[in-house]
Amino acid sequence: MKKYKVGVIGATGMVGQRYISLIENHPWFDLAVVAASNRSAGKTYEEAVRGRWISQLAIPQTAKNLTVMSAQSDIGVIADAADFVFSAVDMKKDEIKTLEEAYAKAECPVVSNNSAHRLSDDVPMIIPEINPEHIEVISSQQKRLGTKRGFIAVKSNCSIQSYVPAFHPLKDRFGLDRALICTYQAISGAGKTFASWPDMVDNVIPYIGGEEEKSELEPLKVWGKVIDGVIVPAVSPSITTQCVRVPASDGHLAAVFMSFKSKPDMDEIIRLWHEFKGLPQELSLPSAPKQFIHYFQEQDRPQTKLDRMLENGMAISVGRLRPDTQYDYKFICLSHNTLRGAAGGSVLLAELLCAQGLI
Ligand SMILES: NC(=O)c1ccc[n+]([C@@H]2O[C@H](COP(=O)([O-])OP(=O)(O)OC[C@H]3O[C@@H](n4cnc5c(N)ncnc54)[C@H](OP(=O)(O)O)[C@@H]3O)[C@@H](O)[C@H]2O)c1
Repeated sequence: MKKYKVGVIGATGMVGQRYISLIENHPWFDLAVVAASNRSAGKTYEEAVRGRWISQLAIPQTAKNLTVMSAQSDIGVIADAADFVFSAVDMKKDEIKTLEEAYAKAECPVVSNNSAHRLSDDVPMIIPEINPEHIEVISSQQKRLGTKRGFIAVKSNCSIQSYVPAFHPLKDRFGLDRALICTYQAISGAGKTFASWPDMVDNVIPYIGGEEEKSELEPLKVWGKVIDGVIVPAVSPSITTQCVRVPASDGHLAAVFMSFKSKPDMDEIIRLWHEFKGLPQELSLPSAPKQFIHYFQEQDRPQTKLDRMLENGMAISVGRLRPDTQYDYKFICLSHNTLRGAAGGSVLLAELLCAQGLI
């Protein structure tokens, strides 16, 4: 099978490094080019990440000696060298929008981890198991950008990637009406480790800028309908959230309350979670978890440290489903924020776009 040549822009950062590790040994993707800011451009990748390589595993051989390019100045060269790029740059929102559109206009598809384009109505924001049909809007986006091959597709915020999958098989069937969610989010979500953020040791910070807005709005776009070439967000369920930073290295856990128009029983919910499969499972995409939602019967699971790496960090863990006094039910769920919630989710999205012939 033909392998796709892949570029990573923002390759030196925390999410970028995850991409580099996931592309190593990927059956469909070969790393062709790495790019970052002008601070890193011109260095070898190994030099550029010296002292900030986060993985326990060594820097992949395929990346080590590549010369880091400038994500902003070398767009033409990068677009020529790669069949598509993953984007994980940390810049101002309007700069990211301009940069990602410049790649798309250079006829290089962009699979982005950034929030800049998430609410653009002709940019699909995809959790591959939930709303793969949203790729349909890419043709309208290409018309707007004047491109033939180039486009932008994004993944959603990491915070929603545990509870949206858990709600999905229940939502339409029972009329999910209201949800209240408190998230307990790891420090890698801020691009940090305990070494770079020592204030987080033995601490909880009750604020993550912009996170509650994203956690309430983005599920509605994911559940939106494609009408006349754009995504029209869903109007329900009504979602309210509080997002808190906790001293975990990786893994976003959520405490969830939910009410339905037509209340199902608990066994039915657990059965639907267990049976739920999406297009990635049907297509056997290389990064798709075999079992998307795992339900734990143990009272003290899921736990961030124990369960975040389930199925290579791509599965969702759920537990403690029980009745509530104010909502119909409450439960706990967990996903790995830099794998399923960031680089892994984008790699799965890229696999879907390749399998559907868009890349
Ligand atoms: N961490 C997570 O779990 C997570 C989850 C979801 C989404 N995100 C989003 O993903 C993006 C990357 O996050 P991160 O945690 O990986 O950040 P990070 O560790 O700070 O890395 C940022 C990357 O962007 C590059 N960069 C910064 N300014 C640039 C510029 N002017 N031009 C080109 N490249 C530039 C950096 O290059 P240098 O090394 O050369 O400075 C580095 O490669 C952010 O938008 C973040 O909000 C992160």
